[in-house]
Amino acid sequence: MTAVSLDRWSAAQAAELSYWRSLDLREILRICAEKPEFLALLDDGLQRDLFQGKDVLEIGCGPLGLSLVSFSRHKGGLKRLVKAEPLPRLPIRETRLGEDAWAAPFLAWVEQLAAEGEYMQTPGEALGFNAEFDTVVTYNVLDHVREPSAILGNAYQALRPGGTLLVGVDCLSWVGRLRFEHITRRTHKGQILVEAHPHTFLPGDVKAMIEAAGFNVTAMHGLPGTLRGFAGSHTRPAFVARK
Ligand SMILES: C[S@@+](CC[C@H](N)C(=O)[O-])C[C@H]1O[C@@H](n2cnc3c(N)ncnc32)[C@H](O)[C@@H]1O
Repeated sequence: MTAVSLDRWSAAQAAELSYWRSLDLREILRICAEKPEFLALLDDGLQRDLFQGKDVLEIGCGPLGLSLVSFSRHKGGLKRLVKAEPLPRLPIRETRLGEDAWAAPFLAWVEQLAAEGEYMQTPGEALGFNAEFDTVVTYNVLDHVREPSAILGNAYQALRPGGTLLVGVDCLSWVGRLRFEHITRRTHKGQILVEAHPHTFLPGDVKAMIEAAGFNVTAMHGLPGTLRGFAGSHTRPAFVARK
């Protein structure tokens, strides 16, 4: 998978930042709900193996600092959680959610989750960890970055031998991708849908990219069936891989 230029990625990040700044209650509820929904693709035993007693790195947690891991019931025994994200940390009160005083108890809970672990402002391509983690997570990120293969390479470097990579990423159908690349990129130019997505993937591309980084893909959950994979709506499968 080829890298995009720094200019293209900077435009994607500008679109990201304006999205996060304009976050409202409906959107934060969606963001919170989709994480346990994704985790439900993984059985309890796997979640325990990924998180309990483990050093975990998440790449691209979003500027609120809300980790996928924070939504797992198996996060209790986490040893360490490092959250790498290129955008500067954005407190909830600096989004439109600051206007939603009536939702304060919910927002306080979200802030509590967002405070879990250590926030590190850096793009995944610049990570320099070496065999320090048991698990690396990257959720809803690889289609937003400058160089997906560099991120997966750094994830590989960051893991101890035998460590596990968990990837969740939007995958289009074969027809959906053709439409996005040849029509939507023109008709929706300047809109977040296009600007914030420098890359699009089919599930097979993601598997190949993970393997090219040196991993052994051990499981894939939530893959589309034949019809949906050919012409249906997008999916966000879970790819599990071992170093
Ligand atoms: C759609 S958001 C998802 C955020 C979070 N994972 C979530 O699901 O709520 C994509 C995130 O990827 C981050 N991102 C973009 N380029 C990146 C890079 N090169 N390295 C790491 N993260 C990156 C963006 O800043 C943004 O926070």
